[in-house]
Amino acid sequence: MRAVDLIIKKKDNLALTKEEVRFLVEGYTNNRIPDYQMSAFAMAVVLNGMTDHEITELTLAMADSGEVLDLADVVYPVVDKHSTGGVGDKTTLTVAPMVAACGLPVGKMSGRGLGFSGGTIDKLESIPGYRTDLTTEEFKRTLKEHGIVLTGQSADLAPADGKLYALRDVTGTVQSIPLIASSVMSKKIAAGANAIVLDVKVGKGAFMKTLDDAKALAEVMVSIGRLSGRKVVAILSPMDEPLGVAVGNAMELAEAVEMLHNRGPEDYRYHCVHLAAYMLLLGGMAKSEPEAVAMAERSLIDGSAFEKFRELVIAQHGDVSVVEHLDKLPTAKYVETLLADESGYVESVDARIIGETAVDLGAGRAQKGDKIDLAVGINVFVKIGDQVQIRQPFFEVHANDRVKLHAAMERLKEAVKLSKYPVKKPPYFHGVIGFEG
Ligand code: URA
Repeated sequence: MRAVDLIIKKKDNLALTKEEVRFLVEGYTNNRIPDYQMSAFAMAVVLNGMTDHEITELTLAMADSGEVLDLADVVYPVVDKHSTGGVGDKTTLTVAPMVAACGLPVGKMSGRGLGFSGGTIDKLESIPGYRTDLTTEEFKRTLKEHGIVLTGQSADLAPADGKLYALRDVTGTVQSIPLIASSVMSKKIAAGANAIVLDVKVGKGAFMKTLDDAKALAEVMVSIGRLSGRKVVAILSPMDEPLGVAVGNAMELAEAVEMLHNRGPEDYRYHCVHLAAYMLLLGGMAKSEPEAVAMAERSLIDGSAFEKFRELVIAQHGDVSVVEHLDKLPTAKYVETLLADESGYVESVDARIIGETAVDLGAGRAQKGDKIDLAVGINVFVKIGDQVQIRQPFFEVHANDRVKLHAAMERLKEAVKLSKYPVKKPPYFHGVIGFEG
């Protein structure tokens, strides 16, 4: 078998067999197939898609490309969550300690930023010393001792996805239902999850632009879960505008910690509480949605979720004083505010433009392996449906470079559209797929 023939086969819109999919995944994992051939293959998948059978084979081949964790002797059931990626989505940082504080252990491996969307691991690295490279043994030990662990995807788990994810980030091949579904589900299967809550984002700042595409992605992932014996619930959540206020690594970490003190934007709070509730339901900790929501809220109100986060930071060797005194987080040299130049009703706050602007400021990567600037980012003070007055602050840009600051201020002028007429606020969720309770 030759990689080039399989690239051509996919370019000609033909379905690959299980053996062919495995040949590509194994060859890429073991460096027999180079990046340039894998990127050509990924682009052919973006353009021509894959059958359900191919997607399942790709998922299982990527899950089997490394170690598959069995956590049954550590905790049961293992309930995981995963977001398909958005702008300002710092949900994991808040939800994992909330759920763990309710008594359901959370062992999670997260990713780095991808394209214009941020990543949990980059955000956590704003805490000096915090280790995101735990070994499997350390992962298991931390989970057993603390009921929570948040680390980077171990190189031993689904290494094919680790390589392909970084390659797709810089080759314009992120936006594809088969590639996203197999990427997400292979990691979750390899990480030993018995049940998974998926946060499928839809809108301008998501990889899925339409509700139909988001539903299709959610359904593919729910069905991969079913085929592989995992319970999967997918929440469809809007991502036309950023979630919460902060976009940028340290700034998002600070917002997540504030939320652990039960302070912060309502859209973000609702999101965290309901994601945590679905995890608690799948984990058998609550019998009904209202009961699960009440448990999740209680963990914010009584301080137990924040305490759990402190415990996590200490367990993973982070400087906990930074979490206790958020002013110790890295800050940018320049902070400038962009004001409304007219009054009106907010029609759109373009998450994509904001995400890309944050990447240009240095909050994300342009190339595989680029170093990011943890301090830079954008605070977004407006939400769709708000009524705004002239000279009201829209954005606060945090930058470490004057040229980038000015470029960001210019670009962000395009990000907000006003209407003369009142605009309806979007729902917090568009729906839930796969929940049977
Ligand atoms: N999240 C993932 O884990 N993989 C993708 O491909 C996109 C979002």
